Amino acid sequence: MHELYKEMYRPQFHFSPKKNWMNDPNGMVFFKGEYHLFFQYHPHGTEWGPMHWGHAISEDLIHWEEMPIALYPDEHGVIFSGCAVVDWNNTTGFFEDEPGLVAVYTNTDQYPDSERSRQRQSLAYSKDQGRSWIKYQGNPVLVDESITDFRDPKVFWHQETKKWVMVLATEQSITLYTSDNLLEWERASEFGATAGSHDGVWECPDLFPLPLDGDETNQKWVMIVSIGDNPQYKEGSRTQYFIGEFDGQTFINNHSDDTILWLDHGRDNYAGVSWSDIPIQDGRRMYIGWMSNWRYANQVPTSVWRSSMTIPRELSLKTVHNKVRLMQQPVRELETIKESVTEHKQKVIMENDVIKQSIPPLCELHLKMDLEEKAHFELTFHHSREENTTISYDSNRELLSLNREESGDSQFSDSFSTIQSAELQTEEGNLELKILLDRASVELFANSGEVTMTSLIFPEELAQEISLASKEGKIVVKHFTITELASIW
Ligand code: FRU
Repeated sequence: MHELYKEMYRPQFHFSPKKNWMNDPNGMVFFKGEYHLFFQYHPHGTEWGPMHWGHAISEDLIHWEEMPIALYPDEHGVIFSGCAVVDWNNTTGFFEDEPGLVAVYTNTDQYPDSERSRQRQSLAYSKDQGRSWIKYQGNPVLVDESITDFRDPKVFWHQETKKWVMVLATEQSITLYTSDNLLEWERASEFGATAGSHDGVWECPDLFPLPLDGDETNQKWVMIVSIGDNPQYKEGSRTQYFIGEFDGQTFINNHSDDTILWLDHGRDNYAGVSWSDIPIQDGRRMYIGWMSNWRYANQVPTSVWRSSMTIPRELSLKTVHNKVRLMQQPVRELETIKESVTEHKQKVIMENDVIKQSIPPLCELHLKMDLEEKAHFELTFHHSREENTTISYDSNRELLSLNREESGDSQFSDSFSTIQSAELQTEEGNLELKILLDRASVELFANSGEVTMTSLIFPEELAQEISLASKEGKIVVKHFTITELASIW
């Protein structure tokens, strides 16, 4: 393992750059057996600065090899977020015999003689599987001087209308454009000015179909929209989603405007979008987010590098309690780093009882429980005598929580020390929890990922022990496995 990956707080099975600052995941695409992950990158410091696209490649979504910087700032500005697609049919004319990759991203500079940010969409293409990139001569390809926050294009091929579709964040809405060739774009529609949360500027949209309850003949479309930090709200930056219909031109929301669906109820999952061009035989929709929050991202106590990504997740749509919800699970490739598994026999925790259990420093916990009516369950990671992180479920309030108030260093920001909560209904007291514990993060997937909570923590020491406790009522732990995870570095 490289020395850099041994530092305190360095994630051991989440992607982080060797050095310097990273934010949003960009340009995720699968091509010729490789998963690409590009990312907002500042190569000259550990704080946000002039943006480049960093690059990493993986064959299994878990082990990443960091590549040289893919896109550098140019005469049109720095390189903000965007996507990459495979141009299978050479619609752009960039390629000769073989299909290649096209990146669509936001070039950001300033209007001449002005302080006003100028954001325009540009293209770059690669004929060697993402190793080198050529900027398109005709950049920028999409401009609109009337809109200042005009960024983060996500593009996909819409087979029914045989057109490329772009979703773009346009201040407090998402504007959709279509194109035959990625070079010329036509405005198709606009979504969201009155829908969902407008607590911050809209950023980083995505739009994709998913079968409902596994039924391929019943597709719904999911629109993901991240919303930027706003000092008025304690949560900082966060991500919402919408479920609806899409005909190649217009997205119709199935919910009322005032319905807000949060993609993650933890503080540290932002600007995530999905992989493009996953083969049909695979069929999965996979997603990754930036594991931080604009409220304190520039202050988190790491030294040589700053920020990591979430674990890649598989997304699905499921009807739960008569409502359609986006479900998330870690991708099955996590298996590649699973080491020893300890399977515990059924345990009964009576009211006020506590059970202690040792754990390996990097692990996945999986629990299936039967909670007596009114039961209140608590699972605590003991990092050291003073430091701990607690996940709890209170049946009375149907409330799932993750408390990191005592989880370690939080001095760097007033907003960090916090309890994160979400409503979660159980079916006859059945609660299922999957928890991924890395060096400085906890990811919680409750009831098949109906509710997720992604949370950074900065404990001085790695946890060696957990306790399971009942604050109220009887809890039967029917299934309990602890799986040791290996470092990917
Ligand atoms: C989201 C974001 C994007 C922008 C990028 C700049 O975190 O603000 O809207 O393209 O970061 O780094």
